[in-house]
Amino acid sequence: MKNNKRAASSENNKNSSRRSFLKTLGLAGTAAAAAPAALAETPVAIPQYLNLVRSHSSTAANDKVRIALIGTGGMGIGDMQTALMVDGIEMVAACDLYDGRLRRAKELWGDQLPVTKDYREILERKDLDAVINATTDHWHEKISSDAMRKGKHVYCEKPMVQKVEDGHALIKVSKETGKVFQVGSQFASSLLIAKARELMKAGDIGELVFAEAIYDRHSAMGAWQYSIPPDASPQTVDWDTYLGSAPKRPWDPLRFFRWRNYQDYGTGIAGDLYVHLLTSLHCITGSKGPNRVYSTGGTRYWKDGRDVPDIQLSIYDYGKTAEHPEFNLTTRSNFVDGGGGNYLVRIVGTEGDLSLGFDSLTVHRNKFPKAPGMSIDNFPKDQKELYIAEYNKLYPQVPELVGPKEFKYSFPKEYKGDRYEHFVNFFNSVRTGTPNIEDATFGLRACGPTQCGNMSYFQKRAVSWDPINMKILPAV
Ligand SMILES: NC(=O)c1ccc[n+]([C@@H]2O[C@H](COP(=O)([O-])OP(=O)(O)OC[C@H]3O[C@@H](n4cnc5c(N)ncnc54)[C@H](O)[C@@H]3O)[C@@H](O)[C@H]2O)c1
Repeated sequence: MKNNKRAASSENNKNSSRRSFLKTLGLAGTAAAAAPAALAETPVAIPQYLNLVRSHSSTAANDKVRIALIGTGGMGIGDMQTALMVDGIEMVAACDLYDGRLRRAKELWGDQLPVTKDYREILERKDLDAVINATTDHWHEKISSDAMRKGKHVYCEKPMVQKVEDGHALIKVSKETGKVFQVGSQFASSLLIAKARELMKAGDIGELVFAEAIYDRHSAMGAWQYSIPPDASPQTVDWDTYLGSAPKRPWDPLRFFRWRNYQDYGTGIAGDLYVHLLTSLHCITGSKGPNRVYSTGGTRYWKDGRDVPDIQLSIYDYGKTAEHPEFNLTTRSNFVDGGGGNYLVRIVGTEGDLSLGFDSLTVHRNKFPKAPGMSIDNFPKDQKELYIAEYNKLYPQVPELVGPKEFKYSFPKEYKGDRYEHFVNFFNSVRTGTPNIEDATFGLRACGPTQCGNMSYFQKRAVSWDPINMKILPAV
């Protein structure tokens, strides 16, 4: 399956290798010959919707793109390291509010790297094309909007915004400035997601009826208990700037280094984790989002002063649209999950299901007959015979599944991962002006409903969302 050369081989070779694949699955023969195209042996290595952007890269791959990093914490460092794997990318500066992180940036990228605590200084640079905004959620909108207004393209970490109204502001600025704005939910560029979308579109699991997503964790780090450096103090951290639009408070290292635990700076489980799940689901189904969300949960184990839950369960109701029928999504995230840790997006259709892990995609197909079952063992002989005769008349054919029952997709050998692909897509948009996969509208459609989910949790009521206009609807 990984062998992409096969995709380029002659029709004959293709057919024979596909036959052997189906044989391995015990499905060679007439039925297998008619197997759905999307389940053919040779996976589409770079599916078309990624190709859309990628196909332009060769024209401008050598154009240098100069980038700066704003927010040199955990994700910022990872993002910059990934961005620098792409050809022609040069780092020109870094910004953070904590001295130690600026020192770390110099350790990683050289003493000569210009660093600052004031992101506005970076935006004044004339030699800068784009910024990575990997700051805390409550700074995403302001820094991204300021950057675009200063003529810079933006790769902004998820969740795109902390508040829905900020999302509209960002959409407006990105339209007005024409700058590339891409949200950093890397699953949008994952080959697994693209393959799942292709299978879904080809009808390989039938009509969508239900989806579930799980993001469980069982570790201190998973529950956002990050380390606090010994020198953390108001002398080493620009605390006043950090607070930004959040309520004023005295210095509190917990609120700076473990910001996800507080509503003032983060977005809780829903914004941190469900936004990935909704991004994946929306990419696969083409959905614009749910119409209603209900959440529950609690803070059951990590009673460390956090004001967000450590267990959150939500139900998202998706209405019928041109892209999909009516369906429901359940999401679960649990920071006390008994030891396993669990990540799954499972999409259930009338003829099977499709399960995604971080690096796996498995499709089970099982056509479900609509004819009633046969529970006739307790019927007397004459009744049994009559029932069977009548049944066979009414349901002469139980529908048969055509093609393989189980399909596992693996990454092609040369695949460098979704984070890398996501940056390739971003830089291709920067270089060629082509639309990007995860623009501000997509970003708000993924993170707006998660904010409804948080609202529902705190207000203990279902919250309605308008997925087209991206608005939280008033309570009725
Ligand atoms: N795409 C993913 O899979 C993924 C994974 C982890 C985190 N993230 C996102 O990345 C962002 C950062 O998360 P993190 O784990 O790296 O947090 P972090 O605390 O490690 O880093 C955030 C950094 O932002 C800096 N910062 C905050 N406000 C700033 C400002 N006004 N100017 C300059 N710097 C500022 C802080 O000093 C801090 O160093 C979050 O939005 C998070 O949701 C995305």
